Amino acid sequence: PLTSKQYRTAFHFQPPENWLNDPNGPVLHNGVYHIFYQYNPYSAEWANITWGHSISSDLVNWTPLPIALWPSEPFDIHGCWSGSATILSGGTPTILYTGIDLNGNSVQNIAFPKNPSDPFLREWVKPHYNPVMVPDGFNATQFRDPATGWMGKDGLWRTVVCAEDFERRAWILLYRSEDFVHWTRAEKPLFRTKTSTMVECVDFFPVSVKGKNGLDTSTMDSEEVKHVLKFGLFDYLHDYYLIGKYLDDEDEFVPENISGDDHRSWPRYDYGSFYASKSFFDAEKKRRISWAWVNESDTIPDDVAKGWAGVLIVPRTVWLGEDGKILQQWPVKELESLRRDLVEIKEVEINEGEVFSVLVNNPSQADVEVEFELSELEQAQLINSKWHLDDAQTACNELGASVPGAIGPFGLLVLASHDLEEHTAIFFRVFRTPNGHAVLMCSDQRRLHRYHLPEIFLYEGNYIHIP
Ligand code: FRU
Repeated sequence: PLTSKQYRTAFHFQPPENWLNDPNGPVLHNGVYHIFYQYNPYSAEWANITWGHSISSDLVNWTPLPIALWPSEPFDIHGCWSGSATILSGGTPTILYTGIDLNGNSVQNIAFPKNPSDPFLREWVKPHYNPVMVPDGFNATQFRDPATGWMGKDGLWRTVVCAEDFERRAWILLYRSEDFVHWTRAEKPLFRTKTSTMVECVDFFPVSVKGKNGLDTSTMDSEEVKHVLKFGLFDYLHDYYLIGKYLDDEDEFVPENISGDDHRSWPRYDYGSFYASKSFFDAEKKRRISWAWVNESDTIPDDVAKGWAGVLIVPRTVWLGEDGKILQQWPVKELESLRRDLVEIKEVEINEGEVFSVLVNNPSQADVEVEFELSELEQAQLINSKWHLDDAQTACNELGASVPGAIGPFGLLVLASHDLEEHTAIFFRVFRTPNGHAVLMCSDQRRLHRYHLPEIFLYEGNYIHIP
């Protein structure tokens, strides 16, 4: 068995110890990448939430810094919850974050670097005039996670904040400000849905319709730009996104990739354990990078015993796919610098029912690239209404790794014990569709040694379409 130390990740960001959840305020400032995160400094479970802080010059090697935001004032005494960073006109990042106040209500606060010329922005000050937004007319405990601000053509700053009304329906509220400190809520929200309770961690950013380059968050509406509105559904711990046109004259967002107000049919940002994502624009490398939280799958007593819980995904570059309808994501190039001890195996033939083992030195850390060549696709089963293309999750639930099919399941058994009693299957099935083929990709975590995951986490899936 691996010790808890060996289980610590080599590719993924994690604090030296204790609990982590959402990534907060990612930003690049004077050549230094900053990541803040929801952090419990005292133990490996969610409580006492502060903003942990780490810096890096390459998004791979991170140096932990002192906690950036502590609960200390009436406007955040019960917690410094999620928020974002925005680079203001002078070039200095500013933080907007949710404070849980003396009464247990949620408010939005602002914080500035104490010494803007500190290259690492170690200390942050929270002005006494906070809060800068209060939950007027909305559920006072469900109002949080201000997004990175953007500036409209009229020179006014905008931001969005998640809220819930008294009927327990989700809103994404829009605020405007001349100076980033005094905020007025716009009559019209940027978005609302009647099919969900509170949503969390909104992210709103432009993407180019031509190519992979990222765009500054304040990029104006034009023919060449679409916008992504991303938020998490707390009930499911999944992030969903809408792609559409943002008409900045009217501050109106018109989604194009959804029909109807039913979140169950909306595209997910990722089909794995992935939540509370937050992106930023890397102006040096002209890319948009996304971070997210990977929730822990150990039990709380196990987390406490091992001394840590929660990691961040490896940072990913995010761009709009060529069809203009889905987001594409790929780990940042820098990650490849962590590859070593190459194990290369070529041209292995695997027949039905066979398992081919690849033994590596450090089995808890492997970055795997694999290519499968299938002898033929003719027998592929026609996709039917039961394994519907919009609902990979259900297909993965019902077609587990041990259910035989025409083409597939084939794939990888990772984190496997020698006798394979314990393993995680990542596997594929190929279906015929009216327009070509679709590959169903699933992971099945039921054979993980220990888990306390609710049913919805045990299988994850997505379809990859091949014309
Ligand atoms: C999302 C979330 C946020 C909140 C934070 C508190 O995981 O619930 O909405 O600000 O975590 O830690």
